[in-house]
Amino acid sequence: QDNPNQALFDLHNQAARIYHTVLTATEEGAKAREYLHNRGISDEIIEKFNIGLSLSDNDFLYQSVKQKFEESVLTNSGLITFAENRIFDSFRGRIMFPLNDKNGQVIAFSGRIWRPEDLSNKTLAKYKNSTTTPIFNKSDALYNLDRAGQSIKKTREVYLMEGFMDVIAAYENGVSNAVASMGTALTEGHIRKLRSVTKKFILVYDGDKAGQNAIYKALNLLASDDVEVVRIPDGLDPDEYNKAYPGALGTLMTSGRMAPVEFLMDHLRPANLSNLQAQLDFIDLMSPKIAAIQSLTAQDAYIKRLVEILPDFEYNQVESAVNQRRENVVAS
Ligand code: UTP
Ligand code: MN
Ligand code: MN
Ligand code: MN
Ligand code: MN
Repeated sequence: QDNPNQALFDLHNQAARIYHTVLTATEEGAKAREYLHNRGISDEIIEKFNIGLSLSDNDFLYQSVKQKFEESVLTNSGLITFAENRIFDSFRGRIMFPLNDKNGQVIAFSGRIWRPEDLSNKTLAKYKNSTTTPIFNKSDALYNLDRAGQSIKKTREVYLMEGFMDVIAAYENGVSNAVASMGTALTEGHIRKLRSVTKKFILVYDGDKAGQNAIYKALNLLASDDVEVVRIPDGLDPDEYNKAYPGALGTLMTSGRMAPVEFLMDHLRPANLSNLQAQLDFIDLMSPKIAAIQSLTAQDAYIKRLVEILPDFEYNQVESAVNQRRENVVAS
């Protein structure tokens, strides 16, 4: 075999097939499918995204693959755990989302708890991810990049989301060019991969505090890129928004985008803007960002927006602060 990792790819592909069969053709699978159906995941989506189930049995996967693979491959995959005196499956009793490389080969899994007794168990992680292997590193892995590839090329843009369920919710709303990192913040590794397929990024993170802070961090990494931001209202994540407002997510993602500066004006706005110094500091913070905008019409609009929230400043004062920054930009 040419690729030294081929056995690892083969094992992952087989494991995905086994997990998928367990979900679609067993009794425990029927219950897990009910959980998915209740979350709005149809059987078509289960097929499309090759979703599966790891049985709560100790070693179902191990028993299914041990004849076909060398022990070293099973160990290296992280899918099987070899302990002192027993061998067991690393993923048990979880709904399995396969993660593919850009060619569609399965390289890892993320498993979600779903059984009522697990959902109420506070010590269990909601999602468990594959460990690092020769074919998988969480820090630059992107869920759905293989399926989204064509659509990204066609639209020349990619949506970045936080979760698998968000990517699926987008897909159900006709948005097929969305990917998600695996619970890690956006890294240079993710960005390098994405820049090789498109120049335009749209951030659609969760509407909660963590998600909004993640947008802020991502914007710093993407400071020199073409970026827009979609804010999900009511503190919801995209999947929850899709449940609350059926059919609205697609429109929000295509038409509800804002420029980074608009997001920042809201995100960085101090809770208390009543004293003068806080207002001056905020003008200092926002002026260079407004000055960097190409369109003068847009600059005018953002100055107006800023003036609206500053009790003690008027348009021409903020404008001259922006103009000063603009001259700095030109001069340097
Ligand atoms: P979230 O907590 O927002 O989960 O974490 P979610 O995507 O909304 O999941 P659902 O809707 O409850 O099923 C965002 C992402 O962080 C990772 C997962 O990749 C998840 O999609 N994560 C989260 C983990 O890796 N482990 C966890 O325990 C939780
Ligand atoms: Mn199938
Ligand atoms: Mn979240
Ligand atoms: Mn979420
Ligand atoms: Mn969610």
